[in-house]
Amino acid sequence: MTFQTYSLFVLSVILCCFGHVENRLNLHQLQNDIDKLKADFNSSHSDVADGGPIFTGRLSSWTERNEKRIILSQILSMYLKMFENTDKTKAHVRNISEELYTLKESLSDGSKKAEDLKDLTKLQMTDLKIQRKAVSELFSVLQKLGDVSSSHNRQRRQFQRRCRC
Ligand SMILES: *[C@@H]1O[C@H](CO)[C@@H](O)[C@H](O)[C@H]1NC(C)=O
Ligand SMILES: *[C@@H]1O[C@H](CO)[C@@H](O)[C@H](O)[C@H]1NC(C)=O
Repeated sequence: MTFQTYSLFVLSVILCCFGHVENRLNLHQLQNDIDKLKADFNSSHSDVADGGPIFTGRLSSWTERNEKRIILSQILSMYLKMFENTDKTKAHVRNISEELYTLKESLSDGSKKAEDLKDLTKLQMTDLKIQRKAVSELFSVLQKLGDVSSSHNRQRRQFQRRCRC
């Protein structure tokens, strides 16, 4: 792997993941625009690889389609935030940010779930009123957990039966 594997190539990979999620994305057409963006940001210089990738490394553990929609919508938000402060007079910057914006819109369910996660971290768990609610919901939460882990076990049992191991 060369250092060019990193950098804004990350963006290509993100968009590539989208290729599987959203078929209508024309990656080939965007490639030129991304190359121009890489030039703007010196993203093919070797120092870009220092410290490893920021997005692609995290993506590998998100495997289910619905999971991917959550993390990709979040990553897209980060790119859009970056483009807020990037020179929009350049056609390639406009093209890319418009495309990312459209993709983000198409992931509204993922965005909603990402918001849920962010909202959760904001809950004041030292607040007595919140604590009382939390306690009243504890049993239901554990029931949900039971659903999740038992279906996991069931899948494992089915798998074991199939492979006779
Ligand atoms: C980007 O914009 C230019 C100029 O408007 C256009 O010619 C080109 O096809 C666009 N590229 C994409 C990927 O939309
Ligand atoms: C890119 O590199 C050139 C030459 O080394 C430098 O003049 C320019 O400021 C750099 N741009 C960015 C965004 O780092």
